[in-house]
Amino acid sequence: MAVLQGLWLMIPAYVANPAAVLFGGGKPVDGGATHRDGRRYLGDGKTWRGLAGGTLLGMVVGFVQMGINLGVDHPDFSFGVFPFSILVIFLLPFGALLGDMLGSYIKRRMGIERGQKAPGLDQYDFLIGAILLVAIFQTHWFLAHYIYWEATLGLIAVLVLTPALHRIVNIIGYKIGKKEVPW
Ligand code: CTP
Ligand code: MG
Repeated sequence: MAVLQGLWLMIPAYVANPAAVLFGGGKPVDGGATHRDGRRYLGDGKTWRGLAGGTLLGMVVGFVQMGINLGVDHPDFSFGVFPFSILVIFLLPFGALLGDMLGSYIKRRMGIERGQKAPGLDQYDFLIGAILLVAIFQTHWFLAHYIYWEATLGLIAVLVLTPALHRIVNIIGYKIGKKEVPW
């Protein structure tokens, strides 16, 4: 149960990246500016539209899940009490995309071009961002759903399964022509 719960509650964060791929394009978040090392701060792969569209679709999916949770009536599968639940379903996708941008920032500083692989970073940057943001701003909910008692198993499941999920989603994105590379 804890494993399912952990994965279920992380769905808004998982939705954010593929949604950013679908909605992305246009003005880059770094405005095209370059760091003093001569490389872009983030690169053209991090856009305002991706950030907004990814956050919004993550929240829409979160709302749908809240509806389903009402039918399930199991406290463990909840984003918390309204209105804090709204904050949780915002923090997860928004944190995921912040983490993704931080990952790109680190890649650029390491001299890795946009779209080039950075094993580890590519798979975990968004997850770390989502977890950190929700742990900071909805600490009680995070502890209750990912740390205390069996909930720890949910956190472990998320950490172990995320690279595989990330890979599958990116291969699909590549096959349907939405991503230029399958990672
Ligand atoms: N995307 C976006 N805005 C974001 C995140 C993603 O527009 N905030 C879109 C971009 O079109 C990007 C694609 O989603 O190319 C894939 O995202 P990702 O793999 O994270 O970016 P990369 O292009 O691989 O760039 P990086 O090397 O910086 O990760
Ligand atoms: Mg990438």
